[in-house]
Amino acid sequence: MSQSGMAGTKSILVINGPNLNLLGSRETEFYGRDTLEAINARLAKRAAEAGVRLATYQSNSESDLVERIQQARRDKVDFILVNPAAYTHTSVAMRDALAAVGIPFVEVHLSNVFAREPFRHESYFSDIAVGTVSGLGAKGYELALEFALQYSGKE
Ligand code: DQA
Repeated sequence: MSQSGMAGTKSILVINGPNLNLLGSRETEFYGRDTLEAINARLAKRAAEAGVRLATYQSNSESDLVERIQQARRDKVDFILVNPAAYTHTSVAMRDALAAVGIPFVEVHLSNVFAREPFRHESYFSDIAVGTVSGLGAKGYELALEFALQYSGKE
């Protein structure tokens, strides 16, 4: 297990891309009624129970998201959960940042992107992700966190 964070504690970063700050009120038929704050609070509670450090970050700006991913390497983050939102389908820059830092990550989508418009079927992230979760709503983040807690790099 890499567990290279401070004092040997595993460190997990949750990154959310554009418009996910509007969760709870945004297109609830696709994204549900949970706010991002509520989702992050559940993740923080679970991480605390597991004795793992968890940081969360949301931005609507591609450059800020790239900076935050770069920062993750300096912070010795062990695992990333990322919902790149619309940047899933457009951002070579975010993909390159994740490839550059080399931190294993799971790609999370609340909605089932494959049941939606064809442009959402393409992702710049899936082929370099450890795995993807799509269509399980807010629960998808919690399931991805459970995976991250168990991840040892030998899967
Ligand atoms: C999303 C799916 C994307 O296609 C969309 O642009 C989003 C959210 C999801 O969580 O289902 O903003 O990533």
